[in-house]
Amino acid sequence: MTNRNPHPSPARASSEALVVLISGTGSIMAAIEQASREPSYGARIAGVIADRADAAGLEIARAAGIATAVVSLKDFPDRATWDDALARTVASFSPDLVVCAGFMKILGPAALEQFGGRIVNTHPALLPAYPGAHGVRDALAGGAKVTGCTVIIVDAGIDTGPIVAQAAVDVWDNDSEDSLHARIKDVERELVVTTVGRMAREGWTVEGRTVTVGQA
Ligand code: GRF
Repeated sequence: MTNRNPHPSPARASSEALVVLISGTGSIMAAIEQASREPSYGARIAGVIADRADAAGLEIARAAGIATAVVSLKDFPDRATWDDALARTVASFSPDLVVCAGFMKILGPAALEQFGGRIVNTHPALLPAYPGAHGVRDALAGGAKVTGCTVIIVDAGIDTGPIVAQAAVDVWDNDSEDSLHARIKDVERELVVTTVGRMAREGWTVEGRTVTVGQA
């Protein structure tokens, strides 16, 4: 697969539009929002979409003046209809880049067809180790001494897409899932903010499994 961001130019007058998908507290989305207040960041959040109305991050987005939407699977007769609605809602914000930041649903064909190659996800483990919904718990159970976080380009699999960026976090002997996840998220927020900003400002290419940010 080759993908080139169609608008990779630092000289662009306006910044790249992001749609951020969340399911929970939204602290990664909040970190992006904070960074985007500086115009040189090169990206701004056009909309935040959650798959549940009680996602706490929605309130953070609203307080920051960002448009929000909820597209909840339980409001649709089946997964395909939900996927279509999600894709339409994402499209309504005309994003250059879609950021899954703690979004706990697999994107379906409708979203991938429209935005494939322009969707990133952040995962709290060093992929390809420990994919899936419990990356932190699984790393602990697996006896990992080092884990971390990974930003990938989303494909049709579960955490299988090409890797954009990673950062390592040591596992401590007395770690619980919560303590380890908290330290991963500290690193993850910075990784996502830096990676999304670079992608927005410099563009990226994907050749097979190799993602190159900049030099596009
Ligand atoms: C992150 O660790 C993400 O990788 C995982 O859920 C967490 C999201 O945190 N899937 P928040 O909602 O941004 O605070």
